Amino acid sequence: MSFDMNNSPIPVKHKQMKMFVKVVVCLILMGFAYRLYFSTYVQIPPVIVVFGDGYSSSPPPAVEANFTVSGQVPVNDTRAHDSTGSLKCDIFTGKWVQDVTGPRYTNNTCDTIEHHQNCMKNGRPDSGYIYWRWKPRDCNLPIFDPKTFLNFMRKKSMAFIGDSISRNHVQSLLCILSQVERPMEVYHDQEYRTRRWFFDSHNFTLSVIWSPFLTESKIFEDNDGHASSAVRVHLDNPDPDWVNVFRNFDYVEIAAGKWFLKTAIYLENNTIIGCHNCKNETISEVGFYYAYRKALQTTLDFIIRSDRKVYTLLRTTTPDHFENGEWNTGGYCNRTGPFKEGEVELRDIDMVMRGVELEEFEKAVRVMNGSRNGSVLKLFDTTRLSLLRPDGHPGPYRAFHPDINGEVQNDCLHWCLPGPIDSWNDLLMNILLRG
Ligand SMILES: *[C@@H]1O[C@H](CO)[C@@H](O)[C@H](O)[C@H]1NC(C)=O
Ligand SMILES: *[C@@H]1O[C@H](CO)[C@@H](O)[C@H](O)[C@H]1NC(C)=O
Ligand SMILES: *[C@@H]1O[C@H](CO)[C@@H](O)[C@H](O)[C@H]1NC(C)=O
Ligand SMILES: *[C@@H]1O[C@H](CO)[C@@H](O)[C@H](O)[C@H]1NC(C)=O
Ligand SMILES: *[C@@H]1O[C@H](CO)[C@@H](O)[C@H](O)[C@H]1NC(C)=O
Ligand SMILES: *[C@@H]1O[C@H](CO)[C@@H](O)[C@H](O)[C@H]1NC(C)=O
Ligand SMILES: *[C@@H]1O[C@H](CO)[C@@H](O)[C@H](O)[C@H]1NC(C)=O
Ligand SMILES: *[C@@H]1O[C@H](CO)[C@@H](O)[C@H](O)[C@H]1NC(C)=O
Ligand SMILES: *[C@@H]1O[C@H](CO)[C@@H](O)[C@H](O)[C@H]1NC(C)=O
Repeated sequence: MSFDMNNSPIPVKHKQMKMFVKVVVCLILMGFAYRLYFSTYVQIPPVIVVFGDGYSSSPPPAVEANFTVSGQVPVNDTRAHDSTGSLKCDIFTGKWVQDVTGPRYTNNTCDTIEHHQNCMKNGRPDSGYIYWRWKPRDCNLPIFDPKTFLNFMRKKSMAFIGDSISRNHVQSLLCILSQVERPMEVYHDQEYRTRRWFFDSHNFTLSVIWSPFLTESKIFEDNDGHASSAVRVHLDNPDPDWVNVFRNFDYVEIAAGKWFLKTAIYLENNTIIGCHNCKNETISEVGFYYAYRKALQTTLDFIIRSDRKVYTLLRTTTPDHFENGEWNTGGYCNRTGPFKEGEVELRDIDMVMRGVELEEFEKAVRVMNGSRNGSVLKLFDTTRLSLLRPDGHPGPYRAFHPDINGEVQNDCLHWCLPGPIDSWNDLLMNILLRG
């Protein structure tokens, strides 16, 4: 899931083409998040097929019926996971309340919003979705204060490591912070997926690092999104893309999930140990949840054993809200207000992922707690509160003024900016300031 940014130096024409291709790739990947898990080998179809009917393969057979989530933690139980045990209030349990003050930035006051999440600019007609704020049940959650945050982060460095949802989160943070100080972009990779910004007057460095599997992976896709082979993931090797710069960071938020639903070959100790969906008689299916667990273990283990004192947040999985279909079968997300608690349930896949996350977090926090040498690990449990916001996605407004009477592509996974994901930063600041 890769995007260009508005301010990229690539010439416009070429950029639009690239952007189009990337849009399609993104959609394919989003779709794969839910489809590939059932279907055959990862052969990403030709770009054009996405908009035609060429991708209507047979209905998903119910493989994976047996999720083994041993001792799954109750979905609503977040209080227990604070590593210090000192939390009086579980900030992740609560509800969305109306907030007439509206968003902290708009498409006019933040110019780094990615095109596909710039719902205002793209002509989304309703605006109710920007007038809500997350309210924990047992306490008040102060709104993010960019000045306080930047002062707190003086001489510090923070990184978000993960996939396009992590990028979505960083962009919200950037927009909020840029109301106080405009950051300078000091690095970007060729695809604008790994980037770094510097807030000069606060000596604060903010990074986003593209690492959708957290562990070392080889993705065999060309620029058009065609895959010549299944992804290969070295589950026992943390991704050098973040490991090699880990020493620079004081604060880290890691997250992953959706990419583990792709067809993949898994390796440990440089040897194939199994796969997900590869349909190769010589390789046994081990399930995406095995791989996800192992990758989280590898990641958390590296962080625990690092001699760098780091404050780490593990963010839980992000639910999507496709209704009446998936991304490629007419699924949409056109609700205009939040769900109330009890009106919606987590899907099986998200349950499984979250179960794995909570279990691995618990294990890691016990070890980290035991060593008491200054590193901190906390759960950033945004799954439930995000589940309540079906109204916060771009839907067809991922594109500029889409013809909603024609055929549209809906994005019901990422979040509009401004939008619900801004509240993640209220939570983030609250946690960080509490230490
Ligand atoms: C699921 O598990 C049950 C009991 O453990 C077993 O009887 C059944 O065959 C399993 N189904 C699949 C598809 O593996
Ligand atoms: C939370 O989970 C516990 C245990 O499953 C249950 O007893 C309780 O009613 C739940 N609370 C809410 C608010 O859902
Ligand atoms: C922001 O969105 C509004 C519509 O909500 C539009 O009129 C305006 O031109 C947009 N601004 C920019 C800078 O794109
Ligand atoms: C900026 O912060 C770094 C640590 O991240 C520190 O080494 C450096 O001295 C700081 N620079 C100034 C001008 O304070
Ligand atoms: C990894 O592979 C090497 C060579 O095949 C072997 O010597 C070593 O014991 C293996 N390590 C583990 C942890 O399996
Ligand atoms: C199955 O996997 C083996 C080992 O990686 C490989 O040599 C073989 O070509 C694969 N077969 C197919 C049909 O992909
Ligand atoms: C914390 O302790 C673990 C072992 O218990 C060690 O591996 C790690 O390097 C230590 N971290 C720091 C920041 O000293
Ligand atoms: C959402 O779209 C569906 C299908 O196009 C339509 O039936 C429904 O009325 C729409 N709901 C809203 C709130 O617009
Ligand atoms: C972490 O350590 C604190 C104090 O040492 C203790 O009270 C708390 O229960 C521990 N938490 C876990 C999850 O081990």
